[in-house]
Amino acid sequence: MSKRLVVGNWKLNGSLAANEALLGAIGPVAGVEVVVCVPFPYLAQAANAVATCSAHEAAAGIRLGAQSVSEYAAGAYTGEVSVAMLAEFGCRYVIVGHSERRALFGEDDATVGRKVQAVLQAGLTPIVCVGEALVEREAGQVMAVIGRQLDAVLALTGAEGLGRAVIAYEPVWAIGSGRAASTGEVGEVHAGIRRWLAAHGVPAGQRLLYGGSVKVDNAAALFALPDVDGGLIGGAALVAKDFVAICRAAVANGG
Ligand code: 13P
Repeated sequence: MSKRLVVGNWKLNGSLAANEALLGAIGPVAGVEVVVCVPFPYLAQAANAVATCSAHEAAAGIRLGAQSVSEYAAGAYTGEVSVAMLAEFGCRYVIVGHSERRALFGEDDATVGRKVQAVLQAGLTPIVCVGEALVEREAGQVMAVIGRQLDAVLALTGAEGLGRAVIAYEPVWAIGSGRAASTGEVGEVHAGIRRWLAAHGVPAGQRLLYGGSVKVDNAAALFALPDVDGGLIGGAALVAKDFVAICRAAVANGG
């Protein structure tokens, strides 16, 4: 099994002072790959902090990620940030298709596919977010929605490309709600995603993360599920002791 992966998505939070305290307190956790996805203006600050950590901990440092990226490489696209720019700051991962991007910033499935393709072509790893809204769950459409979201990526990347991505199952209703999906719900959807990937010829062994109200008290149970390889953490990633505890829960469960 590949190493467990725990990703902090800071969303629109942070300040130079707050970041310094947070980054200084989280440090690497042996046996788990820890990633922080910070707002663009703080990439340089975070890159410096991560380099400092790595110098102290030869084993496994914290890795850096971004929360979104442009589908375009360069040109007249005011306000956009390219994947090459992210790479220059040491980003290894880019979250693509987060439900907040889809719902609030008009990113459709095809746009998500093009962004994933741009990230892969630059040699970075996309963290592709998929997941259903509550009405879609209640209508029994969970795998139909996720299949549609994945199909749009697969159409551009092919099976081999999609296989190089990390997939994060984030049910929209669980994000920031304090109501994580149950272990039964997560287990069922992750198994469904694995079946979907296999049926579409995607190489086995892909890392599947769960995200949505992961907290210190539910992380261990979620990470113990056979098809869960780690987590995508929002609010709890802003509290150093909670984030570290969640990372440790991932190690304790098979890292
Ligand atoms: P919360 O952990 O705050 O629910 O956020 C999850 C998320 O959206 C991570 O990308």
